[in-house]
Amino acid sequence: MISNSISFIAVIALSSQVAAAPTLQERATSDPTAFTFLQRAAKLSSAAYSGCLGTAFDVTITKQIYNGFTDTNGYIGYSPTQKKISVVMRGSTTPTDFMNDADTALVTPSLSGVNFPAGVQIMKGVNDPWTSVHDSVISEVKSLLAKYPDYTLESAGHSLGGALTYISYVALAQNFPGVSITSNALAAFPIGNTAWANFGSSQNGTLNRGNNANDGVPNMYVQSPYNFQHYGIEYYSSGTAATCVQCSGERDTACSAGNGQYGVTAGHIQSFGITEGSAGCGP
Ligand SMILES: *[C@@H]1O[C@H](CO)[C@@H](O)[C@H](O)[C@H]1NC(C)=O
Repeated sequence: MISNSISFIAVIALSSQVAAAPTLQERATSDPTAFTFLQRAAKLSSAAYSGCLGTAFDVTITKQIYNGFTDTNGYIGYSPTQKKISVVMRGSTTPTDFMNDADTALVTPSLSGVNFPAGVQIMKGVNDPWTSVHDSVISEVKSLLAKYPDYTLESAGHSLGGALTYISYVALAQNFPGVSITSNALAAFPIGNTAWANFGSSQNGTLNRGNNANDGVPNMYVQSPYNFQHYGIEYYSSGTAATCVQCSGERDTACSAGNGQYGVTAGHIQSFGITEGSAGCGP
């Protein structure tokens, strides 16, 4: 299923190939410790492709995220070992998902509990899926926080799930101020304009972008005519802790911005040592 998406998105992405901007810089520093939490996020994200019931690795699943019209899928649960409440979104597997990946028309988002500044715009293909599940996600997280008041929040996902994590992070940070949040957007394409990225950066929490070597998806939509912007802290690895680096800024050429790849390429389904969709649901 994921290989279908590879050929599909590759075609779209090739049409947007443009030379890298001259302002790119190479400044990444080694960070093997980040590999551990990014690999865990990659496992949880892989579980979202597998339709896990009951548990996904250390997470006890309490609710499946699903909207049939937008074909949005994921799960919500809690991790007793990590003391986290988790919101995990699935990447692309269906024709509806692939159309969402390619639906770059900008819209002004509107979500309960989120105060978007004027000028914020994100792509319709990510806005509509998230909007269709937003209220049910917030409601489930609220009830889990009532049960586990000392837990913190996390969200994660790979590919389209990573792009959805860019927005789940903002949605959760805005709806639950005062609750610590760390999100891991894996192999995500950027989803919105500069005002959006600035709003994402300004949230009270941590958003990590976890990208794999030779994955061209993070380079999609960054060039004209889209000019979409990533936000958060990029980490980049070729599948081992020893090769894991923390990148500087959003377009560090030692990281995805410099890998010369566009769209869904060979590195896309690998994520911090995990083959997405193949890791199962845990022990
Ligand atoms: C930021 O989040 C922390 C919890 O991580 C909370 O204690 C603090 O009050 C929050 N600050 C603001 C300005 O919301």
